[in-house]
Amino acid sequence: MSPIQTDVAIVGAGPAGLLLARMLQLQGIETVVLERRSRDYVLGRVRAGIIEQPVAELLAELGVGERMLADRLVHDGVQLQHRAGDRMVRDRIDFAALTGKTVTVYGQRELVRDLIGLREADGLPLRFGAEVIGIDGLSDDRVAVRYRDEAGENTISARYVAGVDGAHGITAQLLDAGERQTLQRSYPAAWLGVLVEAAPPSHELIYARHPEGFALASMRTPEVSRLYLQVPAGDTLADWSPDRIWEHLHRRLDLPGSPVNEGRFLESSITPLRSVVHRRMRYGRLLLGGDAAHVVPPTGAKGLNLAVADMTQLSRRLGRALLRGDEAALDGYQESCLHRVWQVTHFSWWMTDLLHRLESDEFGEQLRTEQLRTLADGGPLAQWFADSYTGLPLAPWQ
Ligand code: APR
Ligand code: PHB
Repeated sequence: MSPIQTDVAIVGAGPAGLLLARMLQLQGIETVVLERRSRDYVLGRVRAGIIEQPVAELLAELGVGERMLADRLVHDGVQLQHRAGDRMVRDRIDFAALTGKTVTVYGQRELVRDLIGLREADGLPLRFGAEVIGIDGLSDDRVAVRYRDEAGENTISARYVAGVDGAHGITAQLLDAGERQTLQRSYPAAWLGVLVEAAPPSHELIYARHPEGFALASMRTPEVSRLYLQVPAGDTLADWSPDRIWEHLHRRLDLPGSPVNEGRFLESSITPLRSVVHRRMRYGRLLLGGDAAHVVPPTGAKGLNLAVADMTQLSRRLGRALLRGDEAALDGYQESCLHRVWQVTHFSWWMTDLLHRLESDEFGEQLRTEQLRTLADGGPLAQWFADSYTGLPLAPWQ
């Protein structure tokens, strides 16, 4: 059988791959999206739920925002809870006052559903249960992407391949460790997350620093909470009975008059905390982005937003290469992404370090306490926090 021909083969139907497909479609560029998981699996996966303002604006511009704009919750601040003297306080960081910007609370699962719905409605190729197993010809005129699905093995011939197959994908693995130029940090902690059928304790997110560890009260809707607890790295869900989870959520988050509301668990999961940056994002005709190129710890919910920033760069540069024959546009891809990657890696690391209990060191504790006080003053540190949280500007996507 002769291989299927396309402009760009996209490996992975996460938010990065699906959004890139949309941006290329709007430029008139053909794509095929290959996803190893089933459609139901991809639609059911619970991920973070905070969308930066520039990303929300981009989604609306791309025609992906209809349901998001109708159903989202717009937040113009967050609460940072911590001990001050002998009591717990909640300081509010006022995004609107500090930056004029807001964030959108809308589950990543919903966004993925919207993107898949549009792609399918447009009748464009998106193959589930299609696992990429190899890529050949990265320095030739065309690349051959080999994949396996229920019909057996097949090949797609493309001008370029987007490696947006997440933190456990194949594309980065095709290169040896030295080529990837990886820098990473692991943290001795993980997040246990529960999706709960109950109203959140506040109309805003509460990030809590507590002597027993970090906790976060987020939400998906006014009736559904998303709650997280810092747990030791290596713990499994079997270590955490529902009673134990509630006990810790109450201890770390409750303030008088503002308790966490209990309800049925709709989902629970454990996510390790780590930072990874592969400093090589391009190998000939293969371009990496999103979690395949870098992973941030979940504090601050930057994973999706950073993936989108990569995709605006990749979309514009692939447009230049494929529509105008300007292949050199792709030479700048990695360089143009990495500054933001490091800014966001720093922000996510900083917020993780500020709010978690990672080691008991009185010196470090004092530094964190003083930073929380400085943030509460609303000066330049709060300004930087609000700017970073609500999102740096995005580059044009075309
Ligand atoms: N062949 C085809 N698909 C693959 C392969 C493969 N060999 N390996 C992995 N995939 C698929 C995964 O099943 C997954 O659906 O690639 C997809 C990658 O999607 P995400 O993990 O969501 O990665 P990305 O799109 O970069 O996500 C951006 O959102 O929630 C966050 O953690 C996520 O921070 C990340 C961000
Ligand atoms: C979430 O709602 O899942 C969420 C919110 C904020 C974070 C991380 C995750 O910092």
